[in-house]
Amino acid sequence: MDLNSILTETEQKLAAMGANSEREFAALKTYLFGKSGVLTELMKSLKDLPPDKKPQAGKAINDLRVKLNAMCDEKEKQLHRLAIDAALNADGIDLSIDKPEHAVGCKHPVSVVRKKLTDYFVGNGYIVYDSPEIETDYYNFQALNVPPDHPARDMQDTFFINEGILLRTQTSAGQIRLMEKFKPPIKMICPGRVFRNDDDSTHSPVFHQMEGLVIDKNVTLCDLKGALDSFAKFMFGEQTQVRFRPSYFPFTEPSVEVDVSCFNCGGAGCRVCKNTGWIEILGAGMVNRKVLAGCGIDPDEYRGFAFGMGLDRITMILGEINDIKLLWENDVRFLHMFK
Ligand code: PHE
Repeated sequence: MDLNSILTETEQKLAAMGANSEREFAALKTYLFGKSGVLTELMKSLKDLPPDKKPQAGKAINDLRVKLNAMCDEKEKQLHRLAIDAALNADGIDLSIDKPEHAVGCKHPVSVVRKKLTDYFVGNGYIVYDSPEIETDYYNFQALNVPPDHPARDMQDTFFINEGILLRTQTSAGQIRLMEKFKPPIKMICPGRVFRNDDDSTHSPVFHQMEGLVIDKNVTLCDLKGALDSFAKFMFGEQTQVRFRPSYFPFTEPSVEVDVSCFNCGGAGCRVCKNTGWIEILGAGMVNRKVLAGCGIDPDEYRGFAFGMGLDRITMILGEINDIKLLWENDVRFLHMFK
């Protein structure tokens, strides 16, 4: 048998094969490599050759085997690809079709602000305390020195669930729960959702606060000022000034409203600070002696300060957002503006 003609013949047969030629291909392989196939027959025929021709003829047959093998391997891959294409076409799925790109999400601006504040306070030695959103009247009001029928309740229009059970109106409830559990010295923040029956462009029935509480011996109003001063510089810039205005909260005495100098105009007056040069950011004060005593902490031995700020409010100030609803409509285009 002429080795070259086997090669060309195989070449032609393979070239003629396309999709659905698996059977012919298998038959050709048996014909070439099978037990009584061409190559086996050729090897057998070696024994009839004179001894001096055998090595050369043997090598030629082996070379042919290698070439045929390579050709068949190549064809097998091609047939496999054709089979996959045919299956995909039969499915009617076009994997190359253009599809709209997936919108990639981003952190919510209020989450970014909460994280930034939390990191700051944790870095200054505060623990993070998680307090329930559904509260009793006792923790949300009475233990904070707001007895039933006290006019201070009108400051916070409350959602009641049952008699005595409500959605917390302030994270200040976390102060009481924490003081009942831990002995001073205490340094904690309590971030979380709060709820009030309030609804306009700057108030939402659900919003976020972060409470701060520090209790130790010899804590003074100066410590509160110092703590808020460095916090304000961290949050709004090095040149930020802090000012206290006298205020009233039942659970702090004295109580203050805290303003920072406007980070936008530096105090000259602009639209961010409504031309006042100052922006109100939180309420604070020295923890009322009655509150300490109610939690089993001796007010003659320990003193403390507390502060509470609105995270949505701070986000709105920083992002110059004038409607709180924009934060909760979940329009991804809006959220992406604050990446
Ligand atoms: N809980 C108060 C509020 O929601 C804020 C506050 C917290 C004031 C702690 C003083 C001390 O308005």
